[in-house]
Amino acid sequence: MSRLIGEPLPRVDAPLKVTGRATYAAEHRLPDLAHAVIVSAAVGKGRILEVATSRALSEPGVLAVISHLNAPRLPYRPHKGWIDPTVGERLHVLQDDLVHHWGQPVAVVVAETLEQAEHASRLVELRYEAEAPAFTVPEGATVEPQGGYPANYSRGDAEQALAAAERAVDCTYLIPRENHNPIEPHATIARWEGQHLTVWDKTQFPPNVADELAAVFGLERANVHLICPFVGGAFGTSLRTWPHTTLAAIAARHVGRPVKVVLTRKQMYFGTGFRPETWQRVRLGARSTGELTALKHEGIAETSRYENYIEGLLNAPRFMYSCPHVTTRYRLVPQDVHTPTYMRAPGAASGMFALECAMDELAHELQIDPVDLRLRNEPKIDESRNVPFSSRSLVECLRTGAERIRWHRRRAEPGALREGNWLVGLGVASATYHTLRNTASARVRLRPDGTAVIETAAADMGPGTYTSLTQIACDELGLPPEKVQVVIGDSNLPRVPPHGGSQTLSSVGSAVLAACLSARSAREERAHSGATVGSEIVATETSQASEAAKRYSMHAFGAVFAEVMVDVDLGIVRLAQMVGVYAAGRIVNPRLAHSQAIGGMVGGVGMALLEETHIDRRDGRITNANLAEYLVPTNADIPVFDAVFLDEHDPHVNPLGVKGIGELSYVGVAAAIANAVFNATGKRIRDLPITLEKLL
Ligand code: MOS
Repeated sequence: MSRLIGEPLPRVDAPLKVTGRATYAAEHRLPDLAHAVIVSAAVGKGRILEVATSRALSEPGVLAVISHLNAPRLPYRPHKGWIDPTVGERLHVLQDDLVHHWGQPVAVVVAETLEQAEHASRLVELRYEAEAPAFTVPEGATVEPQGGYPANYSRGDAEQALAAAERAVDCTYLIPRENHNPIEPHATIARWEGQHLTVWDKTQFPPNVADELAAVFGLERANVHLICPFVGGAFGTSLRTWPHTTLAAIAARHVGRPVKVVLTRKQMYFGTGFRPETWQRVRLGARSTGELTALKHEGIAETSRYENYIEGLLNAPRFMYSCPHVTTRYRLVPQDVHTPTYMRAPGAASGMFALECAMDELAHELQIDPVDLRLRNEPKIDESRNVPFSSRSLVECLRTGAERIRWHRRRAEPGALREGNWLVGLGVASATYHTLRNTASARVRLRPDGTAVIETAAADMGPGTYTSLTQIACDELGLPPEKVQVVIGDSNLPRVPPHGGSQTLSSVGSAVLAACLSARSAREERAHSGATVGSEIVATETSQASEAAKRYSMHAFGAVFAEVMVDVDLGIVRLAQMVGVYAAGRIVNPRLAHSQAIGGMVGGVGMALLEETHIDRRDGRITNANLAEYLVPTNADIPVFDAVFLDEHDPHVNPLGVKGIGELSYVGVAAAIANAVFNATGKRIRDLPITLEKLL
């Protein structure tokens, strides 16, 4: 049997997807289904004085209008899932008259058809006592993040080293709020049978939806069943369980029928999380020969008033480069918004934008090639923990990328390369993302007919979980892909961590591997004992992070190179070329890895050049909550990308030696583009996105 791991197996679920037979959350058909439409708060902060429902209720087909006035008081038992902020308490939907943010769900209209519900939702009249919401990043009162990531870190004395540095840079960067904007909207169908609740919900974390609903409604966990076989993109927005999922269940119980809720594109900007607005100041000190002597990186990000969302914004500066004196300082500003959440390389994409731009500014200051500057500061170990890296191939990534983009063409002096009316620039940035592995379980059934079923509660938002798990199982069981069926996306299946943080293959893949090994030995034992094959062999295994995580620093690394062209008169930025070189351990499926890396790079281009959620600071309204005005890259924005995976063997990270790709491929893109724009124009844009008006 040839090995499938490492082979470019086409997606095993591709036929289902291209023929429309892959069923997404909103598409499950249930008899007697009613439709619900959420009414969103039209003030940014305040109190609801009145909910007038008689006009809505008198419309044909309307079954109910539910607000805090008639919604049941729910138990809302404490529940902190893996991705819920440790400080604060989630929004309790329809439980009181308070409005915490613009667009907060304040009522829900249920009707026979979607059209009837939409129409009636516009007839619900709300009166508010409104207050002015506050948006005060970065000056506002800050709080220290707790649990998880340190608020303050230091080794050596960065201030003193900065004062003594031969050369230094001091730069401030701004990243606006960004929204995930997957193609599939959030959607939930809820059905009650007595005390038993079934939900079809778009999620990256099937077990957690069941946990959350059990907590909210005070149910036995065994009485909640979540089904989500397919996810149409998510980028982090479906990691947590948001209020609309609870609303669907409230509505279904209220009308005694199954109810479907689908968020509108606009509601996706208000009802679910987002990448927080971030202010960062980076100060670097170095010798004139390029060795870093001091690094001080401060970050301030927005959060809601009811929860402290924290992410690994300032993790990378602590280990990325060799430097004796390092300080990081991370603060949050609570403001009148809903809680931010993980989005496309959370923390790392934002933090590395600032660090990698600052490295470029330092390279310019020192008149040292930016690739060279990074090579000169390559650390031997993780200096923040004093442990070796399990593997680290940043140097090879930088060298390979420089060759592939023909870096030798780059001129140190900005504006020196020109083609007609276009200024040409080349930029580089390093990338990194930590390799996660958490406890995961999987079950294997070897059937008497020689086929196998792999069962685990994982999700697949696009990277190809169905396919990679198939490949792992095939190799371990000695079966061809057509004899292996992977079943995922169901909370009744063996428990897994969230499908996020690039950890699915590392965590769930390891569990599938373990379950297959155990099923195989059961099969061999049975063969040795001479027993006739009659019954199914079932093996369930749980796999968890090993002690190696304490002895090694585990991260994937990469290098991103961008070539841009900037119109001399109009400031238009066109991407000419991008090369991403990644060292992410073993690549289980090069076809899917390539596709995922390209996707990540495209997301990074959005962050660099287009994406920005505009908030009207008078009332908290988002003025571009749609895909016409919130710009994301289209095909015309994207040239051919070169995504390269280095051969990297890492015996420590997990039994498969995989590191994850999804997040890594976003990181560094925005900085590489910003650095290329500087090289082209001599203009240093420190606030994203890099739009033409900033270049004029
Ligand atoms: Mo990713 S932001 O962990 O879905």
